Amino acid sequence: MSTRGAFSSKIGFVAAAAGSAVGLGNIWRFPYEAGQHGGGAFLLVYLICIVLIGYPIMSGEITLGRNTRSNPYRAYHKLGNRNWSLVGIWGIICGIMFLSVYNVVAGWAFGYFIEITFGSLLSIKDFDAHFDASIADVSDNIIYSFAFMFITAVIVSRGIQGGIEKASKILMPLLLLLLLGLIFYSLTLPNAMEGIKYYLVPDFSLINIETIYSALGQAFFSLSLGMGALITYGSYISKKDNIVVSAGLVTITDTLVAFLAGLMIFPLVFSIGQSPAAGPGLVFVTLPVIFQQIGPIAGKIIGSGFFLLLCFAALTSTISLLEIPTTFLVDEKKWPRKRIAWISAIIIFIIGLPSMLSQGAVESLTHFLYYEGQSKSVFDFVFDVFSDIGLPLGGLLMVIFIARKWGMKKFDEELSKGNSNYSGSFMSTFLHITIKWIAPVFLAIIFVVTVLQKFFGIHIF
Ligand code: PHE
Repeated sequence: MSTRGAFSSKIGFVAAAAGSAVGLGNIWRFPYEAGQHGGGAFLLVYLICIVLIGYPIMSGEITLGRNTRSNPYRAYHKLGNRNWSLVGIWGIICGIMFLSVYNVVAGWAFGYFIEITFGSLLSIKDFDAHFDASIADVSDNIIYSFAFMFITAVIVSRGIQGGIEKASKILMPLLLLLLLGLIFYSLTLPNAMEGIKYYLVPDFSLINIETIYSALGQAFFSLSLGMGALITYGSYISKKDNIVVSAGLVTITDTLVAFLAGLMIFPLVFSIGQSPAAGPGLVFVTLPVIFQQIGPIAGKIIGSGFFLLLCFAALTSTISLLEIPTTFLVDEKKWPRKRIAWISAIIIFIIGLPSMLSQGAVESLTHFLYYEGQSKSVFDFVFDVFSDIGLPLGGLLMVIFIARKWGMKKFDEELSKGNSNYSGSFMSTFLHITIKWIAPVFLAIIFVVTVLQKFFGIHIF
């Protein structure tokens, strides 16, 4: 297995895993999910999900990856059996479908970067209408998202993640700085405090089952869980690394960026009198208004910088997503990495086309299905099945696997490597309780409730 490569250091792994985690999920999706599900109420439930479910599952995935030095399929096969390897396969399928849609949104961000930098996006009057029109535009979307997939494939095919790791060490802090700058700016705007209140003061009456499963789905989305991305990355780390600490650093970084994105968006939303529940267009509509207010030249520079960094954050995520099928096929079929990366990228791009065309371009794809009391596009459907439901399902099966099949003893042994104080520590007790009891029970209930409610309209709670 020595030809598989490895991370050069602990920082290398943390940077790459944080790069995978921080992406559109934090800056695009988190604020609009929070805005649709009660602001502070959502934030609170989200944080609970991160601590009790997200962090333990992240530690579990990395541990499985490092112990087996394998892709998700092989990891479950080695430690379990043929049947369990289906869990790995399910993860890989989710990863492929997820990337197919994620890349569409990355294309939107890339388009906004190009249009702000080289076009006249900031002179537009109605950003709402512009967003709707631009996601419905066939040729632009094909070009932008193709370009995005192309860049991803170039990097994965050359196995030059090293360069990306280095670049992200500079660019991620820059993104953070820009977020902080925009937060300070947004706090000076009229009505900013209302936004802050909406975001930070939970209204408990708004917490319902939908808040819970949305927050849970968001936690899996944002932390890159449930599809084996971190089994894959974990397979490349050293036995000297302390997984408890590394997973902690990744979780904290990811949560911090999402939190800051919310802190930036909600004051803006309230100051321009927008609805926080605007949905997927939220950041694409709110931010340009602000860049416009900042002034023609400064606004252009800041706006183009922002969307560039957002694209970069998305790129480190698409790389890790494309790495899932690539590592799988390199390991299992021994085909050349280059060829696999390109073929996978092209196939996944094609799989994404119906989702791309379901944003207004093609009527039958836009109103594809009807459930949850509303019409859903292919885009919504793929995210619902392979993200909101598919990822927590993968997480559920994983904790059952660790606790009941592989065994907590072996799990502890692996975690003790690189962490000699692990056994008997607080963290070991915490991981035992969450992996054996809290996560499986919670995830099983939420899984059943979500499927019944979303697809069959049956409300248990
Ligand atoms: N976590 C990434 C984001 O928040 C998305 C992602 C999920 C990336 C799963 C890799 C694997 O944007």
